[in-house]
Amino acid sequence: MPVLISRKDKNNATEKLLSRLQITHGCVFCKRCLLRCFSSLGFWGLVNNAGISTFGETGWLSMEKYEKFTDVNLLGSIRTTLAFLPLLRKYKGRIVFMSSIIAYFSLGNGIYSMTKAAIEKFCDALRLEMKKFGVQVSIIQPGNYARSTKIQPPVSAEEIWNELSEEEKAVYNKEYVQERANFFNSIVSEGSPNGNEVVDAMVDALVSPAPKARYMVARLKEKALVLVCALFPTAVMDFFLSYALSKVKLK
Ligand SMILES: NC(=O)c1ccc[n+]([C@@H]2O[C@H](COP(=O)([O-])OP(=O)(O)OC[C@H]3O[C@@H](n4cnc5c(N)ncnc54)[C@H](OP(=O)(O)O)[C@@H]3O)[C@@H](O)[C@H]2O)c1
Repeated sequence: MPVLISRKDKNNATEKLLSRLQITHGCVFCKRCLLRCFSSLGFWGLVNNAGISTFGETGWLSMEKYEKFTDVNLLGSIRTTLAFLPLLRKYKGRIVFMSSIIAYFSLGNGIYSMTKAAIEKFCDALRLEMKKFGVQVSIIQPGNYARSTKIQPPVSAEEIWNELSEEEKAVYNKEYVQERANFFNSIVSEGSPNGNEVVDAMVDALVSPAPKARYMVARLKEKALVLVCALFPTAVMDFFLSYALSKVKLK
């Protein structure tokens, strides 16, 4: 859920109001309640934190999955932002978005990458436009912290195979899917087990007198990969990422 902070919320009104602000539905109701509540309390910061992740090559995922990911990871953050914009402008507040270094490249989770890349562009537009109102917009770009949160449990090759359409099953084989699942699980298992520095970045974005536009909270090798992907021609990015391609032969 998005995290809401009000300076004067001594009676935990926010908590009472929001056990879980569903960001895909019910936002209109929440907007009405929250505007009423926070107009008197004051409103300082909104952290758009909600997100979901999955694994799968582009053609393996259904259109429903693409719609769901767009709904939660992208439109969810936009919905909450638009709902709180009047208050954020009024109180010269802060907006924080959770992106990812995966906004720059993809390793078997293009569906997640695309939503993070899109939210980055939404933030870039918003940050510039909000300057004149004194509203500061920051993006957090964590590296791999999969072991410190619930976002990406290990994936099961069998489940992935069972969910493939008949057309995809005719092209891929179980060995390929198993190898891809193993590869993805090995990345997940390398994730940092401690996400404190991500929370520190979030806090800095909310309370620092001079918050950064972007906080990249990642290991050196992750930052190096981002640099390659962002600065060099696409062919160089593809060369570096090709180490991650499967060696399993397809028909
Ligand atoms: N962990 C990482 O390695 C990593 C790296 C880069 C970026 N991030 C980003 O960090 C953010 C937080 O993720 P996390 O790693 O802390 O994962 P997490 O433990 O799974 O937390 C995800 C949060 O999103 C909420 N959420 C999911 N669907 C929702 C919906 N439809 N409506 C409202 N809330 C919803 C969940 O609420 P419930 O608990 O109520 O389900 C949960 O609070 C995400 O945006 C993620 O993309 C994570």
